[in-house]
Amino acid sequence: MLGSKIENILRKMEKQEKFEQENPYKIPNSEKLLSIGRNTGIFYNILLKSKNVKRILEIGMSAGYSTMWFAEAISNQKDGKIITIDQDKNKIERAKRNFVQGGLYDLIEIRHGDALEVLSQINVEKSSAELFDFVFIDADKERYIQYFDAVLPMVKPGGFIGADNILFPERFQRFTRSYVEHVQKIPNIRTVTIPIDNGEELSLKLY
Ligand SMILES: C[S@@+](CC[C@H](N)C(=O)[O-])C[C@H]1O[C@@H](n2cnc3c(N)ncnc32)[C@H](O)[C@@H]1O
Repeated sequence: MLGSKIENILRKMEKQEKFEQENPYKIPNSEKLLSIGRNTGIFYNILLKSKNVKRILEIGMSAGYSTMWFAEAISNQKDGKIITIDQDKNKIERAKRNFVQGGLYDLIEIRHGDALEVLSQINVEKSSAELFDFVFIDADKERYIQYFDAVLPMVKPGGFIGADNILFPERFQRFTRSYVEHVQKIPNIRTVTIPIDNGEELSLKLY
């Protein structure tokens, strides 16, 4: 069971996400959550807990729905930490409120800016002891391949990279198909498409 504070925030966000999907023209695009599905959240939460993951990097936070599933999974780890990136200040403010209310704020470092630029800053700052156990890609679909290539050297051997919207919405498929083909060709990657909610590509860095 999740703590009631976290569960209440997640449920509220799920209601909003449902409203957005059923009434696509009532909320401006800039205010939409565009969050992962609940089953996807549970899926990653189980994976992260069972692997004792400590260090996570997220590209595309929005108001923090996915981030909260990840943060809950690592909340019992002594040195658990998430770095999450978004370029939208309004969403960052909403996410901060959610993290504070959920009691997860201390685990999460928010980086504001264009994801590729922030990734190159992180790459410069990091020492090899600070590699990530898990990276989640959920920002602009056109640049998934660039994000993957940028983060691969920052992932531990045995760590993994997840990417959302691999199957749906259909308008993203021309980008996500190329992403899957790209990832499948990399020798030290084992990868699978999981047909859960909008479809996840889960890629393990073997060595
Ligand atoms: C699909 S939403 C993320 C949803 C979130 N992962 C969740 O499940 O709750 C995509 C987010 O990526 C951000 N984004 C899109 N392109 C970006 C870029 N180039 N750099 C940084 N953030 C970006 C958007 O502002 C938006 O909040």
